[in-house]
Order: sequence, then structure tokens, then C-alpha cells
Amino acid sequence: MKIVASVLNADLGRLRETCAQLEEAGVDAIQWDVMDGHFVPNLTIGAGVIAACRDATSLPFEAHLMIANADDSIEAYTDAGCEYVIVHAEAVTHLHRSLSSIRELDAKAGVALNPAMPLASVQHAVELVDLLLVMTVNPGFGGQSYIATMEPKIMAARDLIAAQDHTVALEVDGGISDSTIAGAAAAGADRFIVGSALFRNAAGPGGAVKELRETLNNTKAGVK
Ligand code: DX5
Repeated sequence: MKIVASVLNADLGRLRETCAQLEEAGVDAIQWDVMDGHFVPNLTIGAGVIAACRDATSLPFEAHLMIANADDSIEAYTDAGCEYVIVHAEAVTHLHRSLSSIRELDAKAGVALNPAMPLASVQHAVELVDLLLVMTVNPGFGGQSYIATMEPKIMAARDLIAAQDHTVALEVDGGISDSTIAGAAAAGADRFIVGSALFRNAAGPGGAVKELRETLNNTKAGVK
């Protein structure tokens, strides 16, 4: 079970320090929410900011590309030091080719599905998928409420992955907190993007991570 910090709602003026703080807090990786103000109604950071933070931590990075024409940008994010590059099935014209392109750059290929996007849209490219991200909010902003009706989709994604002969991480993103992580884990998720719940916790990110891991340890995956 991996806890991955989203820095979308962190102090964007202190990202290098935040990366070091998150490593100290015990997260497993950092997710960078890249938004273009077109595919989603928000504009955030790009590859240059990620590259500027690369030597601030030894944690793996993943780039969540919530941008139109994502194919044009993939190499910028592998060059910036991202282990995973995640594209939205809705934002690329030829998903099979996009995933191949990520792997050809020696990165791990991720695909994200917005809440209304069917799992069937990745079914015929899943052999190229290293990370399947089931969005549990509509993309664009941190601090939104978890959409629990995504849990049957998470369960179906777990079944799709189980039929593969390679490892595929099943990630959820949006509204993950101590009160929602158990439902996502029981549905079959094994990688959890946590943003606001880390930074709003009175005990700080370290305390939040500790609580989340305790909750995960008490949850039996696949049991709903
Ligand atoms: C939405 C973003 C957020 C972020 C996590 O586009 O992808 O889901 O990573 O946000 P929280 O954890 O604050 O809901």
C-alpha cells in the first residue's frame, strides 16, 4: 500500500522544502498535478518546477498530466525526473500509442479515468499500463469530496488488473482522507493520492501519514 502526496494544496512558494518535509513525513512518493486551464479549469505547474525540486528529495515523482495534447509533453516530464507519467484517457487521441511512448522513454505508463469515463476505455491497452488511476473527484482542484460511487469502478479495475501478467498499480485520487481511505482500499486500491488531508492535519503530514497507515492496516483489501 503506497501513500503518495499531492502538493497541489501545499505552499507553492516552498515546494523544495515541502518535498523534504514529505519525505520526513514518510510518504512513498510525490504526485505533481499538472494542469493547463484547458483540459481542467485550473492552471498549476509545469516540468520546470518539477525539475527544480528533483534534487530536494529522493522520493519518486509521478506527473499527473491534466492537460490537452498530453502526448506533446511526455518527454518533458520524464526529463524532469518523473518515474511515472500519467495521461488522461480523455486527453489523448491514441491512448495505446501514448502509453507506448511513455515506456519508450523508460518511464512507467499511467492512465487516469475521470469519474464518468468507463473502464472499458483502457481495456484494450491495459497490457501497456503500469498504473491505473481511478479519479474519485472531478479533476482540477484539491479539497473536494470523495465520490464513493467510484468504488464499484475500483473493484472492476482490480478485476481487470488481476487478469494481467504484469504489475499494475491501482491508484485513487481525490478526497482521500482517514474517513475515505478504507473504502477505497476495501474496493481494491493499493496506491492513494493524498493532498489536503496531509496539510490540514493538526499533527502535520507525519501525523496524517501515521493515521492513514493505521487505517489501511485495519482494512482488509477487497472486502466491501
Ligand atoms: C484533482 C487533483 C486532486 C489532488 C488531491 O485534479 O488531482 O485530487 O491530487 O487532492 P485532495 O487530496 O486535496 O482531494
